[in-house]
Amino acid sequence: MKILFATSELAPWVKTGGLGDVAGALPAALRKLGMDVRVLVPAYPEMLEGFPDAEEIARPLELGGLLPTPTLRQALSPDGTPLLLLDYPPYFNRPGNPYLGPEGRDWLDNHLRFGLLSRVAAWLGSEASTLDWQPDIVHCHDWQTGLAPAYLHYLPGRRARSLLTVHNLAFQGLFDHASLFELGLPDAAWGIDGVEYYGYLSFLKAGLKHANAITTVSPGYAREIQTDEEGMGMAGLLRHRTEQLSGILNGIDDKAWNPATDRHLHQTYSARRLEDKAINKAELQRQLGLEQRRDIPLLGVVSRLTEQKGLDLLLEVTSQALDLPAQLVVLGSGTHALEQDYAALARKHPGQCAVAVGFDEALAHRIEAGADIFVMPSRFEPCGLNQMYSLRYGTPPVVRATGGLADTVIDAADEKLGNGFVFGTATADALLQALQRATTAWRDAKGWRALQKRGMARKSGWAEAARQYVELYQRL
Ligand code: ADP
Ligand code: GLC
Repeated sequence: MKILFATSELAPWVKTGGLGDVAGALPAALRKLGMDVRVLVPAYPEMLEGFPDAEEIARPLELGGLLPTPTLRQALSPDGTPLLLLDYPPYFNRPGNPYLGPEGRDWLDNHLRFGLLSRVAAWLGSEASTLDWQPDIVHCHDWQTGLAPAYLHYLPGRRARSLLTVHNLAFQGLFDHASLFELGLPDAAWGIDGVEYYGYLSFLKAGLKHANAITTVSPGYAREIQTDEEGMGMAGLLRHRTEQLSGILNGIDDKAWNPATDRHLHQTYSARRLEDKAINKAELQRQLGLEQRRDIPLLGVVSRLTEQKGLDLLLEVTSQALDLPAQLVVLGSGTHALEQDYAALARKHPGQCAVAVGFDEALAHRIEAGADIFVMPSRFEPCGLNQMYSLRYGTPPVVRATGGLADTVIDAADEKLGNGFVFGTATADALLQALQRATTAWRDAKGWRALQKRGMARKSGWAEAARQYVELYQRL
């Protein structure tokens, strides 16, 4: 089967979160199962630098509305996946990240930028395409490509089937009514059965409405988003589509995230050489100016600093957590307020708490390896990758029981299967109690080792998820 994977992020070149990781690893896993997958991604500066020789293969014309004529270039990723780079320099060859300018504000023409991405995905899946490669399925991800199923719906002739994977229901791609015309969508699309959502045009709603099937990135999240409490205004529509909605748990890239070979680490280690993990802790403490202590546990956080991730709860109890005693290292970027609060925290507790504001891939790996306990108190979590990295790195996670966290972490109270610490309500108190349990358990060296090893033995990789996607493609 031929699958077009349409995405706004692609690790290792362009990534703001887990979507980039998924798009960077899942296509190769699908190809191993015999799928002919090509990845459509905007030609951001990082892509142009990474693939300077990408050859022009098409110029999709007459896309409608105010959409320009881009160039499609083909390149081959190192893992052998063909990439289709959507090249339109005025839209994509810009500084900043895929969504925000250098000052941290959304680009004002994001509807056109991701409208073009969606429209070209649909063009590739339609009779209008001039390529000799026609996908059977257009596999979209989040709001950025959510409009593709709607375009496919309104296009004439033979078309690919569509699948929308929801990585995060909180980002809905809302734009004003005028964008309907700019994006070349028919007037008929403006309404409850089209792309309209409470007076706005919503890319995500358009996808949820028109995709032939919908998946989310964990079974737990697929259930949660059909409830009014967690459906973020889309629960009604999702319940309506419950027959076409399923959850497929993400895997992790087990080559990039393998403590035995990770080139970012000061010292590699494995379940059989767990004592070498301590070298990474000492080095991390040294690098970040923490006191060099082996006798207290080091708590680690790598996260976007947003409401979703519940890190305001950790702020509320940091002093008590440090008194357990423990040390804390945080790497993150996100809202200005949380960045400021965490920076202030580090100034208040020098030697005990270190904070790095920014996006730093190497440091993320070093924290996964150097911390003793990973902290992820998310309010909601569609899947979450960091708790899975933590399990693999022998850094038992403390998580809230939600979405993919609840699907991957088993509380230590289960002496046979436990691999971390799970708490229920999203309150600072509940988090602190879980941290207490974790730091107490850390003091029991033998029990801790067993806990670490159970996490490290967990099956990771993408093979199982890829198998489930193939099954779904075949059904479609
Ligand atoms: P989300 O996609 O909601 O941010 P995930 O847990 O699925 O959450 O994935 C986050 C990914 O982004 C992980 O690979 C994590 O290591 C990475 N990441 C998040 N923040 C940073 C940061 N400040 N520096 C480096 N990597 C980060
Ligand atoms: C999103 C979610 C995260 C998930 C990631 C990859 O950004 O917030 O939970 O792991 O997508 O699917």
